[in-house]
Amino acid sequence: MSANTNNNVPVLETQHLVKRFGGLTATNDVNFTLASNGRLHAIIGPNGAGKTTFFNLISGRLKPTSGKILFKGEDITGYSTHRIARLGISRTLQIKSVFDALSVEDNIWIAAQAKMAGWHPLRSARHFPDTQRRVDKVIEEVGLQEIAKREAGTLSYGDVALLEMGIALASDPELLLLDEPICGMSPKETQRTVEKIVELSKLVNVILIEHDMEVVFDVADDITVMAQGGILAQGSPSEIASNHEVREAYLGFDEDDDGELAIMPNEQDIGQPSKGAHSNG
Ligand SMILES: Nc1ncnc2c1ncn2[C@@H]1O[C@H](COP(=O)(O)OP(=O)(O)O)[C@@H](O)[C@H]1O
Ligand SMILES: [Mg+2]
Repeated sequence: MSANTNNNVPVLETQHLVKRFGGLTATNDVNFTLASNGRLHAIIGPNGAGKTTFFNLISGRLKPTSGKILFKGEDITGYSTHRIARLGISRTLQIKSVFDALSVEDNIWIAAQAKMAGWHPLRSARHFPDTQRRVDKVIEEVGLQEIAKREAGTLSYGDVALLEMGIALASDPELLLLDEPICGMSPKETQRTVEKIVELSKLVNVILIEHDMEVVFDVADDITVMAQGGILAQGSPSEIASNHEVREAYLGFDEDDDGELAIMPNEQDIGQPSKGAHSNG
């Protein structure tokens, strides 16, 4: 993978990014910068904070109301999802999206081919060996070698999540956006998937939206806290954990015996701002 090629230009930058749905400001003047540095960046924040909308804007599923999105310095604001994907931004969805009747390998093949050949049948044939190499590499990267021939519909929840990451990686992206990839998993599946995400973050720039605080504070190098469409705080896990505003509004804290702050992972402990709170219309 080709991450970390140029450390001067940020991989991703948003400038005064705004998205309104009628009177609701889902993205409120977001200035976000991600350097290409092999660090795992997590975005946290309560339900409705605007995390998924932010990904939808970056990946082109939604057009911003105003503001700019730069990818490796190129202004991609308003580009189609297809064009953005081909430039090197890939994402997984909060909703599972694999072809159940196809094998693991074929699911990844389809995604790899879309990038390599742009679906052109003659070019497909010419790119066949490249595509196969890419597919094999991705299957190895996500750790699905042993079940590469299995139908996706027969996979466990955790394996489906790894397959979805494989599909997202098939196009050899420079930026991978993961939206709550461990949602609904058993602790064991969570652990395996999280380990894989950490590994992948060394190969490709990853932004991880995650509501499991325990996971985030365990694995993230940098954390952005979103609230009411805006960025409430940014920093290392320890900076975020000690940030007064974040503590007040979004995290529950306990004093451990040794006086260390313990982050309570229970989502119920995270403040849920009312929708009206960020309505501006
Ligand atoms: N397509 C849409 N149309 C109208 N409102 C939306 C749409 N998508 C998201 N919203 C609203 O925008 C706010 C942010 O949503 P979202 O980005 O999904 O939050 P998060 O992912 O942080 O839970 C919510 O109030 C949500 O209801
Ligand atoms: Mg979401």
